[in-house]
Amino acid sequence: MRCFIFLLLAILPWTSVQSQVAGVLYSPDKGLWLETRFTENGLYTTLHSGKGELLNAHYPGPLLEPNISARRLRLIKTAETSYNETWATVWGERDSVRHRGFGKTFHCGSGTGERLFDIEVRLYDDGYAVRYANIVDEEPVGIYAEPNLFTLHPGDSCWWAWADYNTLEKTWQQSAIADVPHAAMPFTVRKANGYFLSFLEGGIEKYTTATLVKDTSRSTSFRMNLVPSAVGAAVKTIAPARSPWRIVLATPSAAGLLASSSLLNLNEPCRIEDTKWITPGNYCGIWWEMHLGLSTWKSEGGRHGATTENMKKYIDFAAANGIDAVLAEGWNTGWERWGEQGAFDYVTPYPDFDLREIVRYAQSKGVEVIGHHETGGDWPGYEDRLDSAFTLYRSLGIRYVKTGYAGPMHPLGEHHHGQVKVEHLQRVVEKAAEYGIMIDAHEPVIPSGLSRTWPNLMTFEAVRGMEWNAWSEGNSPRHDCTLPFTRGLAGPMDYTPGIVDVLLEYRKEERIRWNGEDKGASRVHSTVCHQLALPVVFYSPLQMLADLPENYLQHAFLPILSSMPTTWDETKVLAADIGRYVVVARRKGARWYVAGIGNEEGHKLLLTPFRERKYKMLAGTIYRDGPSAHYIDNPTSWTSEAVHWVGDQSFSVQMQPGGGFLMVLEE
Ligand code: NOJ
Ligand code: CA
Repeated sequence: MRCFIFLLLAILPWTSVQSQVAGVLYSPDKGLWLETRFTENGLYTTLHSGKGELLNAHYPGPLLEPNISARRLRLIKTAETSYNETWATVWGERDSVRHRGFGKTFHCGSGTGERLFDIEVRLYDDGYAVRYANIVDEEPVGIYAEPNLFTLHPGDSCWWAWADYNTLEKTWQQSAIADVPHAAMPFTVRKANGYFLSFLEGGIEKYTTATLVKDTSRSTSFRMNLVPSAVGAAVKTIAPARSPWRIVLATPSAAGLLASSSLLNLNEPCRIEDTKWITPGNYCGIWWEMHLGLSTWKSEGGRHGATTENMKKYIDFAAANGIDAVLAEGWNTGWERWGEQGAFDYVTPYPDFDLREIVRYAQSKGVEVIGHHETGGDWPGYEDRLDSAFTLYRSLGIRYVKTGYAGPMHPLGEHHHGQVKVEHLQRVVEKAAEYGIMIDAHEPVIPSGLSRTWPNLMTFEAVRGMEWNAWSEGNSPRHDCTLPFTRGLAGPMDYTPGIVDVLLEYRKEERIRWNGEDKGASRVHSTVCHQLALPVVFYSPLQMLADLPENYLQHAFLPILSSMPTTWDETKVLAADIGRYVVVARRKGARWYVAGIGNEEGHKLLLTPFRERKYKMLAGTIYRDGPSAHYIDNPTSWTSEAVHWVGDQSFSVQMQPGGGFLMVLEE
């Protein structure tokens, strides 16, 4: 008998594993289905829609050091789950998010039945995602590659930015799939059958980020590539390890991509118990004037921007106009030694910046101060001083910090988008949460939805934003109209919008060129209405009114910009054509903001914003480009008129070349 039991136990692992298993998962609305086929080489999937096949993919499993060759896999078992819940956001594009979908886990083992890792799959109405979880190996685990393969079709086209391991401040180009050698994510595709796909990463924690490299096997296939580390495996971790979610959004329209909440649904619920202190809002600050070359971050040279007097001017401006907070860049010593290790101590203000007096003054006026920690890329030096830096800010009541990493990564050989930086940012965010501080991260890794888990992680740059207009050939209207469908799909963008002096005329003669990219013809390449629409179109819970107080005080748009909400109850996408135009409608309470931006072509659109709602009457104002406005030679022309609405009425709006519009409506 004992012998029989022993035999049975020895046979069990063999009988419960399989080498070939096929299945299919349907999305809740049945609009998508995912065929799965498990073999000894991993999981193969084909995503289908009613309009035909969308994507073939192969998930072979992670390649681990020291034995980096692919292993033959066996399926130990599968498990299925379903999701149907609604959760409340702390801030965001909507007050609540519906999470509805199906999950399937493939528990994978080696040929001998030993557990290796799980392949987790989720299918939603607007896409699917796969990740490796419970990765076990000898300790520590070194993940050398994750060679997932994605195969598109000839005839598909895409919007892509060159993969760069150090920056996402890029322009996005449109081309045929075959013409893309190496792309950053998000990577957005228009299928020949009219569907749209976007490849992005969800929940990047204790891992590196990834790019998509054209595979040598065929011109429509991309292999996932892990951003390397200076030494050893791209990812160094401990078991049980897991990869970020490899997400593929799939929607029948470009608007569908923008409406997706799948990235947030794939991140873990909030880990901060009491979130009442986390408050979105708008800000202005000592920033644009430095980018324009009117003042400097460093104090020597007689042109210092962050002086007590100047800061008080911004605080007065914010207080008088209902702006929540004021940022001060260049307030602390170290800017003369930018880029050197240990250049900044994050606690010593320049002598002409009386930090305590400034905070006292701001508080007396009900305005918050946004602190600034530029590291110049020296993240280890910053991390050493994080406690003292945050202690100072907390003791003063400074609750927001903008961080920056403009410069090569330390130590040499590491990349801004590698694991070292991912983990650094995570430590900063968690430490900030302990101190009751909210973060606006510049030069970060690509956001991946972690703000759901850590809602004090407010906003990110990772975008070629407004600053480029101050000192380079700048950003085209097409760039702005592409961003929501590419970078924007990854999460909030601190683009720093809302410039009303688009020709940069204020004190033009006094500007000093300081950036090598500046050829002397810099300006903002859009109409002023395009600028007015941007803070609604580009979502960010911290939204900057980036222009100078002097310019706003001359402009009728100031009260509109300063009273715009930065967190919304509801968001709808009314029109979307990637790179050409985008129109969104966002509601806060009883008020709707309908905003659109267009590219160089100019667009007349017929919109039906409230089809389902049948409002009795909505009334308000539309601000739109003047009839002869043009982003090149007549960018400041605008007009406004009263509008009102009954039920599901449509309206037509003309955006001039490089233009935009904003409509503010109330019931
Ligand atoms: C780059 C950031 O993106 C920008 O906003 C900031 O002004 C500079 N670094 C200086 O910190
Ligand atoms: Ca930057």
